Amino acid sequence: MIRTSKSEHASINLRVDGKPVKADVPPRLLLCDFLRSQCGAKGVHVGCEHGVCGACTILVDGRAVRSCLMFAVQAEGAEVKTVASLGSHDNLSPLQEAFRAHHALQCGFCTPGILISAQAFLTERPSATRREVEELLAGHLCRCTGYTSIVDAIMATEETTA
Ligand code: FES
Ligand code: FES
Repeated sequence: MIRTSKSEHASINLRVDGKPVKADVPPRLLLCDFLRSQCGAKGVHVGCEHGVCGACTILVDGRAVRSCLMFAVQAEGAEVKTVASLGSHDNLSPLQEAFRAHHALQCGFCTPGILISAQAFLTERPSATRREVEELLAGHLCRCTGYTSIVDAIMATEETTA
């Protein structure tokens, strides 16, 4: 149960990228801002704060969600995973490696959210068609790449992990 103190802060417990986190947060603090400011999760990018651009997408209990549309208190007890959970600089995940190989990122601002969405999508739809991947990306705004190389990278990941 979430407890709210007189100072209007709520105590929450959750896991972020495998690590337990305990914090007192204002009830109206957005989950994206909590992750960046109090958990060091700088891979959570914040663009529109309206659920439109997809940059802030993370996994909450295995489901891809916009962290700008959740309050931190709503993540009480949740298993949260950001892009940092996928791989590391020296050990890229297959999806990250495909993005690198297919030049699917330029400025990289949209990339963490797209990687998370694509990872969740591939887990559920390991044999998705190119059209379905394009539809997935309709939920993400990228100002740099024109999307083609991103679709190529996701399709290539399907082939290597099939
Ligand atoms: S910052 Fe969350 S969808 Fe744009
Ligand atoms: S790579 Fe720059 S916004 Fe997508």
